[in-house]
Amino acid sequence: VIGNFLTRALNHAAIYLILQRATGADRLRRLCVEVLRPRAGERFLDIGCGPAYLLDYLPDVTYVGFDTEPRYIAYARRHYGARATFYCEAFTEAHASGLPPFDAVLLMGILHHLSDGEAGALLGRIGRVLRRGGRVISLDPCFDRDSSRIAHVVAALDRGRFVRDERGYENLVRPYFARVDSHVVHNVGRLPSTEIVMHITEPAARLGGAGGRRGP
Ligand SMILES: C[S@@+](CC[C@H](N)C(=O)[O-])C[C@H]1O[C@@H](n2cnc3c(N)ncnc32)[C@H](O)[C@@H]1O
Repeated sequence: VIGNFLTRALNHAAIYLILQRATGADRLRRLCVEVLRPRAGERFLDIGCGPAYLLDYLPDVTYVGFDTEPRYIAYARRHYGARATFYCEAFTEAHASGLPPFDAVLLMGILHHLSDGEAGALLGRIGRVLRRGGRVISLDPCFDRDSSRIAHVVAALDRGRFVRDERGYENLVRPYFARVDSHVVHNVGRLPSTEIVMHITEPAARLGGAGGRRGP
């Protein structure tokens, strides 16, 4: 009952944003953006963009956001519609082949919402929309043996049904990218938490690997 209530409350963009800031979850997102070293004029793709507040941390980039939750996209359009484009849908094969290539892709809190099959299909598509030298950053809750008991419970109670350990997340990426640098971090926000940041580059699609196969 509490889980359902929380899920419904979090689907309201304003409540989600208050909680992000109250728990310090926005700090790690800000750090992730810094790792990408965004430059004005670049093209950014944000999948599972939520209310899209990452735009507050980005220079004047061309930003395209995808999210399946209508309330988040409505908020994003109201607040950032003048400087960004939003799709209230999943990022499909049609988008991957129809949109111009991107310099950077943000996967902030999405992979743990996707099954292995869904995540693999998404990563393959991302490999194909990246420009040469493009980079991807992901952030997700993570199980780890060094987590505190509370951090473990926080990860287990997440709305996403596919929280994994470091190896589990890396295994999603490896068929589609030649390089993944992952870091498991503890308690970066105000609550006990364990999260994994992956900096992902060199799509296998360019080398003719698994990511190069086009789906239906
Ligand atoms: C943990 S939230 C992260 C939101 C935002 N990226 C952030 O960092 O605050 C995960 C988001 O992924 C979205 N989502 C889940 N499955 C999705 C899918 N298949 N395609 C696009 N968005 C999805 C959810 O609606 C939710 O907004």
